[in-house]
Amino acid sequence: MARPQVVLGVSGGIAAYKACELLRRLTESGHDVRVVPTDSALHFVGEATWSALSGNPVSTRVWDDVHQVPHVRIGQGAELVVVAPATADVLARAAHGLAGDLLTNTLLTARCPVVFAPAMHTEMWEHPATQENVATLRRRGCVVVEPAVGRLTGADTGKGRLPEPAEIHEVCRRVLARGVLPPDLRGRHVVISAGGTREPLDPVRYLGNRSSGKQGYALARTAVARGARVTLVAANTALPDPAGADVVTAGTAEQLREAVLKAAADADAVVMAAAVADFRPAAYAPGKIKKRDGEDPAPVALVRNPDILAELSASRPRPGQLVVGFAAETDDVLANGRAKLARKGCDLLVVNEVGERKAFGSEENEAVILAADGSETSVPYGPKEALADRVWDLVVTRLT
Ligand code: CTP
Repeated sequence: MARPQVVLGVSGGIAAYKACELLRRLTESGHDVRVVPTDSALHFVGEATWSALSGNPVSTRVWDDVHQVPHVRIGQGAELVVVAPATADVLARAAHGLAGDLLTNTLLTARCPVVFAPAMHTEMWEHPATQENVATLRRRGCVVVEPAVGRLTGADTGKGRLPEPAEIHEVCRRVLARGVLPPDLRGRHVVISAGGTREPLDPVRYLGNRSSGKQGYALARTAVARGARVTLVAANTALPDPAGADVVTAGTAEQLREAVLKAAADADAVVMAAAVADFRPAAYAPGKIKKRDGEDPAPVALVRNPDILAELSASRPRPGQLVVGFAAETDDVLANGRAKLARKGCDLLVVNEVGERKAFGSEENEAVILAADGSETSVPYGPKEALADRVWDLVVTRLT
């Protein structure tokens, strides 16, 4: 079988060096990649690098190999075009249908999904011209990933950084697998908690759990892809920020509660995917607890943490807000799930069985989504993103 053909367009920004890693990820995941750099991109990374990393000749000009009509062929044959980094200039040219070089010709002839990963200074990103160009491209069905916030070319920081190559690769993988989804969460604000809280015992120890945060991050990525404004409250995760999500960090259950309630004030839906510690040590020892010869360790007294999901469900900070919980169970999974749904008062409860090799830290998950109206949706074993999409499907039908 022919390998899927991806066109990687690179425009002239310092982040062009990061596109080398994206290229590597695309080829390692089995894609045949044609790199189309603009002339200015070649000031940052040379043709030899693109050619060696892609294993393909690199086309830069419409006048190369004219007999093969590259300005039409490359776009026509593509299954995905991804432009990373996409400068303000390339977004403008794409939005206006200009075709002055090989990359913009390719964009005009491509009939496959197109992903832009912009990178530029904050002022350029925020300029109404750029914002209108982005809106035009999105209206036409292109995926324009929100830039990340952080260090820019010089000492300055702000919005405009190219998202991590791993994240752009995720977006590409998803678009290749599912196409560009209708943005059915556009205009919605969703809040997702992810990871696991840690409750400190002394300066070096804590009570924690084994949640990796992968399911919550999959929920964030899929919600961004479906057009939502996403606030991700991340507790002790070691995962790259999902492109386009606002990430807030929290350590303990108390901090998570504060961050979730603050973000929930204007949210259409809140999904509590985080594993929140039910108990915390009653006292925090400001110095490291030492063992003493001949003495048994002192028992650790615990107190209850607030139940954030139950509190949200009861208070609904915004009228009509939808609240979704997760339940990790080891026994009597469904019976415990139904009882928990009623006890917590949420609208949907995603129930999964946990055990040695199930759910925690893995890339896959299976679950039953219980709804307060009595319906049950089984989601077969598969990627955490597929489960995330089923959750959003159910949220969307309930929000509209
Ligand atoms: N949760 C929460 N606050 C807590 C504990 C849990 O908001 N203090 C949320 C979790 O984010 C999850 C849901 O409640 O969405 C269920 O978590 P789970 O640990 O399965 O349930 P518990 O309430 O802890 O019930 P039990 O320990 O009795 O199974």
